[in-house]
Amino acid sequence: MHDVTVVSNEPIADGVYALVINAPKLAQTIKPGQFVNIAVPGNAMSLLRIPLSYASADAEAGTVEIWYAVVGDGTERLSQMKPGAKTDLLGPGGNGWTIPEGCRRALLVAGGIGVPPVLCLARELAVRGIPYTVSIGAASKGCLVGEDEFEAAGAPVISVATDDGSYGYHGFCTAAAEQVLELEGGEFDYVAACGPEPMMAKVAAAAAKAGVPCEVSLERMMSCGFGACSTCAVETTSGMKGACMCGPVFNAEEVVW
Ligand SMILES: Cc1cc2nc3c(=O)[nH]c(=O)nc-3n(C[C@H](O)[C@H](O)[C@H](O)COP(=O)(O)OP(=O)(O)OC[C@H]3O[C@@H](n4cnc5c(N)ncnc54)[C@H](O)[C@@H]3O)c2cc1C
Ligand code: FES
Repeated sequence: MHDVTVVSNEPIADGVYALVINAPKLAQTIKPGQFVNIAVPGNAMSLLRIPLSYASADAEAGTVEIWYAVVGDGTERLSQMKPGAKTDLLGPGGNGWTIPEGCRRALLVAGGIGVPPVLCLARELAVRGIPYTVSIGAASKGCLVGEDEFEAAGAPVISVATDDGSYGYHGFCTAAAEQVLELEGGEFDYVAACGPEPMMAKVAAAAAKAGVPCEVSLERMMSCGFGACSTCAVETTSGMKGACMCGPVFNAEEVVW
């Protein structure tokens, strides 16, 4: 449990906010793919915390940055928290990404608000000197996030897609991923994806066809966030597993899509 203070909380795209919190111990320990479960004050009827990935952590400054889409009551209240506001969170939660030993090149695919955990992974790959290719997508140009940050992290190729064709390729970010895996699958040792589940299922199928290990981050509905309620159950080839404790990152071949 960490007591945290809001440093800033500003819109970065249509309906998407960047929240920076002061959380020194969390900033030192959280790993790419892990999440936090944050309490949002303001509704006595709602006791549930909100599970959110993080976009970056600055161990020196003691801050963690989270990008979130406003979709309901909790995220709406979160968007109203001002700098200086205090709350608490549980974390880091779950298991993060596992970059395979000896990985020569990775393919990253991120859709919509699935970008943050993939962006953290990109930075980790850059630190380890592993080249990667990124395909990102969003419903439209206005809600696209992450393009500049992936470029800053050193991605050699970026394919950007929008569902409505308002920017980049007109279609899904899976198209570029499927194409690159079909043409150059042998050059990749790792595929990682986060976004809507149908998108991750497509990426998982393309990676399996190309014979490349693939991980997906399943951002399932959660209640407790620490293994006590079964809200986040995921059907896997070895039975039901909780996304909060056994995930949110899963081996894609283990998931029953
Ligand atoms: C491990 C994990 C990491 C996440 N990371 C992020 C992140 O970095 N940024 C971000 O914006 N969101 C993220 N989410 C999703 C986020 O937790 C939900 O959007 C949030 O809990 C919605 O809360 P709310 O009270 O605003 O909406 P609610 O009122 O609870 O729900 C509003 C609508 O959204 C749907 N919904 C709620 N949660 C989910 C979910 N997990 N998946 C699909 N639909 C959902 C509900 O069915 C409802 O239709 C993550 C979820 C998990 C489990
Ligand atoms: S959210 Fe309660 S068990 Fe995972």
